Amino acid sequence: MLESGRAVELVGDNVVQTDRGPYLDYLARCEQAFRPFAPISLPDFFKGRADNVTSLQTELRTSGRQVAIYGERGVGKTSLAMLADFFARFNDETTHMVRCQVESTYDSIFEQLLLEAGLEYVPETIETEARRQGGLAAGPASITGAKSTRTRGRAIVSAQRLGPSLLLRRFAEQEGLLIIDEYDRVQDKTTHTRLAETLKHFSDAASKTKIIVVGVAETLAELVGEHQSLTRCLAEIQLDRMTGDELSEIISAGEERAGVTFQEGVRQKIIALSDGFPFYTHLLSKYSADEAGRVLLDNPEAKPVVSEPEYRKALQKAVTGGEATLRDAYRTAVITVKRKTEMYKNVLWAVAYSQSHEVQVQEIADNIGLLTGKRPRHEGLSNYLGPLTKPEKKEVLVRVRQGYYKFANPLMRAYIRLILEEHNISLGGQLLFPWMRQIKPRG
Ligand SMILES: Nc1ncnc2c1ncn2[C@@H]1O[C@H](COP(=O)(O)OP(=O)(O)OP(=O)(O)O)[C@@H](O)[C@H]1O
Ligand SMILES: [Mg+2]
Repeated sequence: MLESGRAVELVGDNVVQTDRGPYLDYLARCEQAFRPFAPISLPDFFKGRADNVTSLQTELRTSGRQVAIYGERGVGKTSLAMLADFFARFNDETTHMVRCQVESTYDSIFEQLLLEAGLEYVPETIETEARRQGGLAAGPASITGAKSTRTRGRAIVSAQRLGPSLLLRRFAEQEGLLIIDEYDRVQDKTTHTRLAETLKHFSDAASKTKIIVVGVAETLAELVGEHQSLTRCLAEIQLDRMTGDELSEIISAGEERAGVTFQEGVRQKIIALSDGFPFYTHLLSKYSADEAGRVLLDNPEAKPVVSEPEYRKALQKAVTGGEATLRDAYRTAVITVKRKTEMYKNVLWAVAYSQSHEVQVQEIADNIGLLTGKRPRHEGLSNYLGPLTKPEKKEVLVRVRQGYYKFANPLMRAYIRLILEEHNISLGGQLLFPWMRQIKPRG
């Protein structure tokens, strides 16, 4: 039972009161520093990425440049975009962000951004109709140059079409940022053309409000489409996976904030298993630091330390409780209904075992041999590789070219390596994984 930080526990026949306050405070500090499921919003916890931050600052401070931030899923794009106002010293009150959905369109994206800026866009004809019916004070009393009026405390902007000219009238003279996140999800083709047109207009008009487009993509063209006109006006910031040193900084920041120490060996394993993704560093650090904090329940003065047992608990928790989409995709991929076989699992383990992202079928067969002691004939593997690229197995693999496969979701490799590591621990650590061997001592 918990009452304002004090727990009443039954130890033998005695009722003992323990002060859970220090433990709960500790968990709250861990929560601030290790955030696997949320982007970084406090600059103190944003680590590494020095070159990207410098480019972002320079580009946002260069007249006529808009910015695109792109990279693999989960590398830290939203975190960088959310802190753009801080890094480039823009006012956060004039910084607005919208997160796109599959069904988002140009109009819905910019209507949302206008709303965030306290403005409601109403197409001219509808507004005129509403005014006639509702008897609202007639415009055009312009605050932006567009026809506008004010109702229920919110200004209404109106034009026949939502487009660059209306947006520039509203935003060009005011320093600010319009951030369009998860733009890769947008399916509507005309949205891409209209956004390209808008980026160009914002640049030509040297708008003081800048647009930042963010999304998962391998190239700029994949994110915003092929538009010749964008080459000069759109700066690209490509985010790579984070380096071991950068990931180590995340752990150090958490150590300092929460008052916990990670044993060097464990720290290195967490970094190696993260595969460059800060998500896994946060996830494993959080679970193991939370676990280490339990010493505070017995001794509020204790200094929590993350060592092997806490790491193992964290690993288990990360496998079973980590990211639901990955977990579900993995389960669906390995489970067989009609004929029981371990081969789907073996194939996925073998792909994750490889040092390469794009793995050749022969190597998959070799790796299965290493992991199970029985190498299958690689010709027979297509019976399993094929289905793993299909919706029935959640398309976990992609065939890159003849004879080569990779994980569709780059985070999957790290997820399966967690499973491999857990499995290895249960075998008493018999296997030496190549990616774990890369661990180097900190200098
Ligand atoms: N520079 C950083 N320093 C510390 N942690 C970071 C950094 N960048 C990202 N993270 C952490 O990594 C995880 C993923 O970050 P974020 O959501 O920003 O990535 P993303 O690229 O936008 O992901 P998605 O592709 O899923 O949208 C979060 O837990 C976030 O807190
Ligand atoms: Mg994001």
